[in-house]
Amino acid sequence: MPVVAFFKEETSIEVQNIWEKRLKLFIPSITLVPLLSNEAKKAEIALIWKAPLRRLNELQNLKGLISLGQGVDHILYDNSIPNNVHVIRIVDPYMAKSMSHWVILSVLNYIRDTQGYHDQEKSMIYKPRDEINFLSVKIGVYGIGAIGRVVAQDLNSLGFDVNGWSRTKKNINGIKCLEGEKGFDLLIKNSNIHVCLLPLTSSTINIFNSSIFKSMKIGVCFINAGRGEHVVEEDLIENCQSGQISHAVLDVYRNEPLPANDPLWKQDNITLWPHVAAETNPNTAAEQIANAITCLNNNIIPPNTVDRDLGY
Ligand code: NDP
Ligand code: OXD
Repeated sequence: MPVVAFFKEETSIEVQNIWEKRLKLFIPSITLVPLLSNEAKKAEIALIWKAPLRRLNELQNLKGLISLGQGVDHILYDNSIPNNVHVIRIVDPYMAKSMSHWVILSVLNYIRDTQGYHDQEKSMIYKPRDEINFLSVKIGVYGIGAIGRVVAQDLNSLGFDVNGWSRTKKNINGIKCLEGEKGFDLLIKNSNIHVCLLPLTSSTINIFNSSIFKSMKIGVCFINAGRGEHVVEEDLIENCQSGQISHAVLDVYRNEPLPANDPLWKQDNITLWPHVAAETNPNTAAEQIANAITCLNNNIIPPNTVDRDLGY
């Protein structure tokens, strides 16, 4: 009878109940208990999103931590977690497609100037605006893993010229794949639209900063759905104010939820979304989580166990 400690920042017991109900379809005897309860201390497995720092260290029987998302930075930042504990992430094609829809929406809004037409409509102005010809647009996708690869291919199928960047060499139909520092420089210099879908690690933190923004073509569009810490936000604001970046679309922030006094709210050419580009869906993700729980119970390393040294 697996007892799984559960935590999802700022959510109620109802969310835990939804997950328990879904997981019971695959493991009828499973019980979810709140991570902060006393019962959780005996749990061998925790299913978590942004758990309070050091709490997991109090679970003496812990074998595995399962992320309630595709990213694991919210787990690995807690260095009190013993090294022998496996960290498993979700890899859900539904989330990849969902992200792809969000990126496509952002790209199309940019090239068709949706905001400009909304503004005109308020003043009853019936007039064509300058349009960016999609044939002239090069899109750079930073991170072409489970999510970025789908996004790159879907953008390509819409007729865009797409280049992707990864740490190790990739071969993806229709996409020019680059890697390493040289590949990064090429993408930065040549793309008109930059899409960040990287995981947050010690190699990718602050990767988009003023000197990088200034190496981009003038007037580019910058889209980030990786993690807030990929971007030095003051530098982004400064480059959006100068026109170096003509528009930015953000889904993730260094501080979430974005504080009311954050200057990002005031920047007209930055569109803000509240970390919803690709939400975890219990209906599609429960089966693989149940499988990971079963593996851990049988001392088998589950699929999608991350390399804790690499950080993703
Ligand atoms: P993957 O691990 O499948 O892919 C990561 C990609 O980034 C890989 O291509 C990897 O290269 C590349 N990469 C990692 N480090 C480097 C580096 N130092 N230099 C170059 N490339 C690097 O992750 P996912 O696609 O599943 O998810 C990516 C991120 O998206 C998550 O970590 C999370 O932060 C974010 N996310 C955001 C969501 C949202 O709603 N905003 C929803 C879900 C995820 P290689 O292939 O060579 O290993
Ligand atoms: C994730 C996220 O990592 O939603 O899955 O950010």
